[in-house]
Amino acid sequence: MSEPVIKCENVYKIFGANAQKMLQDSNGNVDAKVFQENGCIVGVNNASFEVAKGEMLVVMGLSGSGKSTLLRCISRLTDATGGKIFIEGQDLLQLNNKDLIDLRRNKMGMVFQSFALLPHKTVVENIAFPLQIKGIKTQDSINKAMDMVKLVGLEGRENYFPRELSGGQQQRVGIARSLAVEPDIWFLDEPFSALDPLIRKEMQDEFLRLQDKLQKTIMFITHDFDEALKLADRIAIMKDGIIEQLDTPANIVLNPATEYVRKFTEEVPREKVLLIKDVMDTSKDNLGDLKVSQNEIIENVAEKILTQEKIVAVIDNNNEIIGSINPTKIINTVFGGRKNNN
Ligand SMILES: Nc1ncnc2c1ncn2[C@@H]1O[C@H](COP(=O)(O)OP(=O)(O)O)[C@@H](O)[C@H]1O
Ligand SMILES: [Mg+2]
Repeated sequence: MSEPVIKCENVYKIFGANAQKMLQDSNGNVDAKVFQENGCIVGVNNASFEVAKGEMLVVMGLSGSGKSTLLRCISRLTDATGGKIFIEGQDLLQLNNKDLIDLRRNKMGMVFQSFALLPHKTVVENIAFPLQIKGIKTQDSINKAMDMVKLVGLEGRENYFPRELSGGQQQRVGIARSLAVEPDIWFLDEPFSALDPLIRKEMQDEFLRLQDKLQKTIMFITHDFDEALKLADRIAIMKDGIIEQLDTPANIVLNPATEYVRKFTEEVPREKVLLIKDVMDTSKDNLGDLKVSQNEIIENVAEKILTQEKIVAVIDNNNEIIGSINPTKIINTVFGGRKNNN
């Protein structure tokens, strides 16, 4: 496997005058309560994980769980109190100021909940702005910005001012602006949280379409578990600065590691999240005629499977039979393991 793009080793961020000393004295055993009694707030508590090239890691947790702080450490908007962070193998804390600015300008893109557009610049000028900061000639930067306008579906609105756009459109400008410098690593901190539910869903779909095309390495923050399930390759669930579980959406729903995580998964419609391969059996006996792909979302093939009397064959991308699924298994998955709300 190739080197991870982002790697965190035992990262801590503790706020307060004595943070450094308290962390040292704790020997890596940080109790948020004890720290608080001593005037320190624990933002991130011993985070270790990797993000692979082209992967989307979604960091999910309630407000105050440390998501933004973790992201700020990795983009070095703030310095971690302890631990190591590597970006493409480079130790982030060893970079000098110039290298750090280079890294932020050329390698990293950021999008925040507040769109933070320049009110007196048009859409295309807002998007071109980071390119001009990099010293790119005005016309070249405008050309590039126009490409981005098209990419995010704002063609025809390039000469509007931010106040003339809806929230969703403004966030498209924010996304286009952060993509203009062609960052390899993309940080998004609750980019859709301020949007209405319908617009939000549209933006999520659009975002998946973009990522399919661009294949960036992404850390995406949200407090919305459904959003996390929809977007993530893997999800890191945070509570009180600690990553309680980091796994694929399917594994989190099937095997929540803690009570806190289980609570989130309770209401999740499993058939919308799990794939056939997540619930299939390896036995290949007594198969009927129907074959389904291992990569189908259960919801999409449930009806077909449930009308079978025989066991259904599961096939891989080469049409090879790799296992089977019994119609009752579909019923168990859909209706079992989830609390009855009625
Ligand atoms: N600059 C700061 N000074 C002191 N405490 C902070 C600071 N920034 C964040 N915190 C605290 O760190 C914890 C995590 O905050 P944050 O990362 O913003 O959470 P989230 O993004 O998950 O809502 C919270 O308890 C918050 O109050
Ligand atoms: Mg936050």
